[in-house]
Amino acid sequence: MAKAKTNYTCTECGDVSNKWMGQCLACGQWNTLVETIVEAGINRFSTQPQALAQTAPVLSLADIDATDVPRFGTGIEEFDRVLGGGLVTGGVVLIGGDPGIGKSTLLLQALANLSDTKKSLYVSGEESGAQIAMRAKRLNIVASELKFQAEIQLEKILKTLADLKPEVAVIDSIQTVYSDALSSAPGSVAQVRECAAQLTRVAKQNDITIILVGHVTKEGALAGPRVLEHMVDTVLYFEGDTHSSFRLVRAVKNRFGAVNELGVFAMTEKGLKGVSNPSALFLSQHDNAVSGSCVMVTQEGTRPLLVEIQALVDTSHAPNAKRLSVGLEQNRLAMLLAVLHRHAGVAAFDQDVFINAVGGVKITEPAADLAVLLAINSSMRDKPLPRGLVVFGEVGLAGEIRPAPRGQERLREAAKLGFTMAMIPKANAPKQKIEGMKIIAVERIDEAFDKMRELDD
Ligand SMILES: Nc1ncnc2c1ncn2[C@@H]1O[C@H](COP(=O)(O)OP(=O)(O)OP(=O)(O)O)[C@@H](O)[C@H]1O
Ligand SMILES: [Mg+2]
Repeated sequence: MAKAKTNYTCTECGDVSNKWMGQCLACGQWNTLVETIVEAGINRFSTQPQALAQTAPVLSLADIDATDVPRFGTGIEEFDRVLGGGLVTGGVVLIGGDPGIGKSTLLLQALANLSDTKKSLYVSGEESGAQIAMRAKRLNIVASELKFQAEIQLEKILKTLADLKPEVAVIDSIQTVYSDALSSAPGSVAQVRECAAQLTRVAKQNDITIILVGHVTKEGALAGPRVLEHMVDTVLYFEGDTHSSFRLVRAVKNRFGAVNELGVFAMTEKGLKGVSNPSALFLSQHDNAVSGSCVMVTQEGTRPLLVEIQALVDTSHAPNAKRLSVGLEQNRLAMLLAVLHRHAGVAAFDQDVFINAVGGVKITEPAADLAVLLAINSSMRDKPLPRGLVVFGEVGLAGEIRPAPRGQERLREAAKLGFTMAMIPKANAPKQKIEGMKIIAVERIDEAFDKMRELDD
């Protein structure tokens, strides 16, 4: 196949250059020139008849057939939950995660289930057929109808899609696929963008559901251009501590469902097993109450989860005290420590502060603030918080405690798991009594600390 003509476009300002340069001559940014294919013949901005001839018809919204998107389940309940109820015909899903976390395993399990009713294709650029077959054997999967191809060239994959006409296809992974039209190496920004764009187009045109596996960078973001996330319909992230067997799949973008929905799995020898009742998974078991530990209820998607927040505050011997957080936002910790000083009179400038969300969960919502501050205070004073206490609430810069969404649901879940006391924002206080649960509603951070001290006495 003849190489298509390519040029280099600046991702910052859109300036076009014929050869690659380290710096864009137009805007002066470094490393922003990316190889792109030049569309032969038609100028993108041309008003020539041949360009206009392809204009899509203009319709009234009322005239467009609004049939609900057809969905189908993957047979893995937790996976369907994050997808918003199942895969969508013609939808493109991107699933990213750390190496070895279980992306290929999950997708092989899902495709094996689907292959009973749908024509399914698994394209792997990372593993050979033998390796996949070995994994299938270990997982006890018998999917005689599942088709497999070990291929990394985009044009050949597109041909397979056209010939085989599968209804569901997995591309493992988008970083290994390369197009002949570009001279950049597989995995480069230009290649990833071009391959994903072509595959997305084919998915929409031929009603093929495509699942792309994506690598992540050292920082944990999906490798490749940011536009990759814009192009696809759904973006899922695999998270979790590789040392524990639990894995979480989180939806960060979904054109067909709610985001931040969470699927919880356990990695076993027989593959990933869904955990249908995960709310108590992220609590560590202490026989005696320990200081610096506070349990919070976080709401992930439609489900409340109880997570233990741990803090350790220790005298710093370095000129700059350390602030480290695992599973929670680092900048937010610095902000909370400032609030702690200004509004509760607790100074931590000469203390190293470490906080951790147990079990490798990432907590993105600000409702963790109150739990973080109580854990820090508890560690500082070396005084455990009362047993059976759960906490949630956002702390503002003025020291006020703001309500968290779906407070009632969080309280009910905590009560179900045997918690007996809850410190919550005043605005979240339930109108009706919750069986077996003492509610401490607070409006300000200093008030929260005072109430805690009263409980100690
Ligand atoms: N015999 C086994 N028993 C239990 N777990 C296993 C076994 N074999 C493999 N695993 C688990 O499967 C994981 C590998 O899963 P998988 O290959 O699906 O990951 P991946 O996300 O596709 O990785 P990559 O990015 O390298 O493709 C291992 O990290 C391990 O946790
Ligand atoms: Mg893999």
